[in-house]
Amino acid sequence: MIIKSLTILDEHYQDLNNDGEDVIQGLTQTPKSLPPKYFYDDHGSELFEQICELPEYYPTRTETWILSQYADEIAQITGCCELVELGSGSSTKTRLLLDAYRKIADSCRYLPIDVSGGILKTSVFQLQEKYPDFSIHGLLGTYEQALSHLESNYLQSRMLFFLGSSMGNFTPQECDKFLNQIAHTLNAGDYFLLGIDLQKPTEILEAAYNDSQEVTAAFNLNMLSHLNWRFQGNFDLSLFTHQAIYNQADAQIEMYLHCQKSHLVSLDVLNLKVSFQAGESILTEISRKFDLVNLQKQLAAQRLKPLKVWTDPQKWFGLILCQA
Ligand SMILES: C[S@@+](CC[C@H](N)C(=O)[O-])C[C@H]1O[C@@H](n2cnc3c(N)ncnc32)[C@H](O)[C@@H]1O
Repeated sequence: MIIKSLTILDEHYQDLNNDGEDVIQGLTQTPKSLPPKYFYDDHGSELFEQICELPEYYPTRTETWILSQYADEIAQITGCCELVELGSGSSTKTRLLLDAYRKIADSCRYLPIDVSGGILKTSVFQLQEKYPDFSIHGLLGTYEQALSHLESNYLQSRMLFFLGSSMGNFTPQECDKFLNQIAHTLNAGDYFLLGIDLQKPTEILEAAYNDSQEVTAAFNLNMLSHLNWRFQGNFDLSLFTHQAIYNQADAQIEMYLHCQKSHLVSLDVLNLKVSFQAGESILTEISRKFDLVNLQKQLAAQRLKPLKVWTDPQKWFGLILCQA
């Protein structure tokens, strides 16, 4: 079945000729790093879905609980509006929001945005079946591409939303730049809904990213498989091991791939050869854990005024509704 309601914003990202500038930059600097978007090829997205089901991985079930309690209230506050989701993945939690909007409006427009083509196509197809009266249109590309592609002259109000604490993958500087782009994409009166993971004891955090079934380890290593097929690389996954640690000073989980043996890696499409030393690491993700008070100040400074905050009883996760 051909999914017609999909716009491909980045042909190059879909194409093996992607220039991969960010990979070259990350692997030629010291210490080495890679952008977390490379976790997500089809297999990476499947592994992320498995992570969401793990007993140690509290963020998905906690955010799901908050949405199950408050999605109706969110829809009541915003009224019917165009719903635009950044990094939608399987859009599983989003169904709670779509159900709430279906109660207040016969029809709604939903635009899921993701860089991972397989899961985006599948979820658009499934959502079209479940919500036949909604207009659903996927955008395949990065956050930045999708935000600059969205129409600026729209009549209906809009709610942009970003769940799963994916904003935690940005450094503080990247976060400011991102929120600035969000504020510029919205008209006055529009909404921004943000799901964020909150600070909590180190044991809980480290267990969530070092699960006993080692699905997170497979997810982390899959980034190298992704680079291998995308850029004709020869990473040997058996030479790397996964580790996630909580850096308390910066309030962030840091996920690494540690190199076990000195060797050389080539990525032919990028014309890149990188030498790795035994004991060297690649930083593949930071996942910042937020303080609700500080984050609300940061949002307000970007002209995104927090209207309401919801959390779970343990205050492990937060959902903030802002108005531009
Ligand atoms: C942590 S998952 C969250 C998925 C879902 N929103 C949730 O809360 O369960 C991040 C999602 O964002 C997508 N993604 C990651 N980096 C991206 C980027 N730079 N631009 C667009 N999508 C991205 C991934 O493909 C993945 O589906």
